[in-house]
Amino acid sequence: MFTRILGTGSYLPEQVRTNADLERMVETSNEWILERTGISERRIAAPDETAASMGAIAAKRAIEAANVDVSEIDLVICATTSSQNAFPSTACEISGMLGISDCPAFDLAAACSGFSYAYALAHSMILSGQSKKVLIVAADLMSRACDPNDRTTIVLFGDGASACILGQSDTEGTIAVHMSADAKYGPLLSLPYPKRGEKSENDWLYMKGNDVFKHAVTVLASLVSKTLEKGNIKPEQLDFLVPHQANMRIIAATARKLKLDMSQVIVTLDKQGNTSAPSVGLALDEGIRSGRIKRGDILLLESFGGGFTWGSALIRY
Ligand code: COA
Repeated sequence: MFTRILGTGSYLPEQVRTNADLERMVETSNEWILERTGISERRIAAPDETAASMGAIAAKRAIEAANVDVSEIDLVICATTSSQNAFPSTACEISGMLGISDCPAFDLAAACSGFSYAYALAHSMILSGQSKKVLIVAADLMSRACDPNDRTTIVLFGDGASACILGQSDTEGTIAVHMSADAKYGPLLSLPYPKRGEKSENDWLYMKGNDVFKHAVTVLASLVSKTLEKGNIKPEQLDFLVPHQANMRIIAATARKLKLDMSQVIVTLDKQGNTSAPSVGLALDEGIRSGRIKRGDILLLESFGGGFTWGSALIRY
């Protein structure tokens, strides 16, 4: 038995925040942001939007693309660190919005590795015979987690959601998955839950950018090699790298490691910034809907985030 992607979807809020907008918010410049990160603009959710409302739209689009009925979905996983409530979870809220009932649903917190973790878990649930069609959703509102006065973080992040239906298949789709974490680096990238009844400046996202950058490059280089080895695929057999969208220099370093031309890398970072959990799913959906990724192509999805966590999926689409 195998698993394969039946359909993907995504959602981006309407409001665009450009580098010029950020120049008016904090002491920064378009040149600095472009040169250090590769980001030109990012999307910002409207006040009434939530991880669940954005995730539900992305999920609907994936369900349509997969041409499945909601009654066929037998597991909902939502990768997010932006849930409105501890419970009901965002996954439960999304199930309600889509009319999915009597079906397990839960959230998964793996920061920017959320989509890869959810994909690996969905794959395992299908292989174990527990599920047949899994709705994977990833949604985050990182713009609300960043101190609007902190130029070191506010320029990096944006909001969005992505989704994917992973189904049982007779032919190979998913070739290999990998997940890992190392808690000793946790303090370099953190987002505390606000304490009940008080708001302090320590509630914002904290990142020691430079250190995170160095670890991300090293961990991702080893992650992509390990995943290819596990799947018995050579770098030259890859059609596309679908990376987590945190920094153009990190993406380029991973592409160089794999000896891939940048035309074989799906980049959404310039227009979306780092959306955290949904980032890999947003890039995957963009690659598929733009027609660049075609059925039969071999894709390597990879991500790295707070925890530290990291994860990957090697897929024949
Ligand atoms: N505009 C202008 N200057 C800025 C700035 C901004 N938005 N943000 C920081 N700076 C300044 C710093 O204050 C520092 O000034 P100093 O030298 O006078 O102290 C200088 O720019 C360099 O800062 P540094 O943090 O060393 O820059 P960098 O080249 O490491 O780039 C990041 C910063 C955040 C873009 C980069 O470290 C990064 O992408 N990190 C990883 C993010 C990531 O991968 N996250 C993954 C998990 S989500």
